Amino acid sequence: MASPLIAILLAAGEGTRMNSKTPKVLHQVAGQPMIDYVLENAEVLGPAKVYAVVGSGADLVKAHLGKRAVPVVQKQRLGTGHAVAQVIPFLKGFKGNVLILCADACLIRPQTVQALRQFHLLQGGAVTLLTARVEEPFGYGRILRGPEGEVLRIVEEKDATEEERRVNEINAGVYLFKAPALVEALKRLKPNNAKGEYYLTDTIHDLLGRGEKIHALMVPDRTEVLGINDRQQLTHAHKTLHARRIEELQREGVTFLNPMTVEIGAMVSIGRDSVIDGNVKLSGKTTLGEGCRIESGSVIHSSVIGKDVVIRSSRIMECEMKDGCDAGPFAHVRGGSVLAKGVHVGTNTELKNANIGPGSKVGHFSYVGDAVLGKNVNVGAGCVFANFDGKNKHTSHIGNDVFLGSNSTLVAPVRIGAGAVVGAGAVVTKDVPAGTKVAGVPARPMKKKGRPLSPSK
Ligand code: UD1
Ligand code: MG
Repeated sequence: MASPLIAILLAAGEGTRMNSKTPKVLHQVAGQPMIDYVLENAEVLGPAKVYAVVGSGADLVKAHLGKRAVPVVQKQRLGTGHAVAQVIPFLKGFKGNVLILCADACLIRPQTVQALRQFHLLQGGAVTLLTARVEEPFGYGRILRGPEGEVLRIVEEKDATEEERRVNEINAGVYLFKAPALVEALKRLKPNNAKGEYYLTDTIHDLLGRGEKIHALMVPDRTEVLGINDRQQLTHAHKTLHARRIEELQREGVTFLNPMTVEIGAMVSIGRDSVIDGNVKLSGKTTLGEGCRIESGSVIHSSVIGKDVVIRSSRIMECEMKDGCDAGPFAHVRGGSVLAKGVHVGTNTELKNANIGPGSKVGHFSYVGDAVLGKNVNVGAGCVFANFDGKNKHTSHIGNDVFLGSNSTLVAPVRIGAGAVVGAGAVVTKDVPAGTKVAGVPARPMKKKGRPLSPSK
């Protein structure tokens, strides 16, 4: 059985270099706030509790965390050691391990945190920390090792000598501590450094001096250790996470014709043999089935798309499109619309809260808002469902096999029965019985020869 674990996320920092009203840890990286990645890294180890030390923008961060972490407020930001010390009262009597993660280090993979725990349990030291060799160590804490390769201490940029700054092994900001050792070391911490802060990193040297064993696991992929402190690093993190996601999807059988220009959110899944053109954005909780083709300029947000769907330069927002549908170019499908199998939505057409039956076609320049359409309905070019009377929205119902002629207007609410035909240019203000033909303004039943009946007196 794995030993009990408590996780602490450090998320109280000002994030001064971000120059933002939004707390740093809530900035979006590849489709979700950076703290969410770090929460996942804590959760993957199945902790008994997750504490998040919050301070700057505490209310927003707390609201975002919800039930995923217990917030602990750090009133004054006196350093990472001081931040962890805020959690000491909650560690009373706890003899297990404490995982500490910086909430601005969101590129670390969950597998790496798992490997760190394995290594920590195997080595049995008081602390195990994650390190990496990087090309540009500027700004990070450097790992200073002794003649046997043993970790001696971590020195921060501002406190390092010229020679120490040349060390390119850095502290990733992820640690596993034995709880009693952590608590004792924090109590002894002093702000004796260039910044006058309580550095968590100083606990390493302290514990070593007390005969404790310190171990370090070096992560081979240096892209994991980037901490986000400014907007450039934010963009860099975004690119890195995004590239990882694209690679994952490519392995799952998805083709990207120009991966550099697409945006794929963290909660998007795509079926194999789907082809995604350049300049496509898939965001929110979106699912695409197998064999879809998403052409350039399309945006799909929080939608469920079936198999073999083709979307051409269109915007699909919070909708459902079943197998074999196609939309666009330049369609706007929104407001919870549900399209059954094989629905065709053509050029410059907008659907809002429309429930459309299988095989129906809304070809060109139409607006279908608040409507329920049966199967095999044909909506001609330029049809408008006038769903708003200036005060309220109304729903119209169109039966199976109805034919709406071009440029007809349906003044909602109307019901058009199965098999009815509405002539081009008609303005339908009343219900149309099944199997009848109507035309004119306002629309009236047609004579057998196809002319409208004269208006009733
Ligand atoms: C820290 C490490 C450094 C490491 C780097 C990795 C220390 C002293 N230094 O430096 O060795 O290489 O992370 O990214 O730990 N925070 C608080 N309260 C505070 C101060 C910070 O909660 O009083 C939080 C921040 O919100 C952030 C995390 O702790 O999420 C790290 O703080 P930051 O100021 O970014 O430390 P670095 O200078 O990056
Ligand atoms: Mg940082």
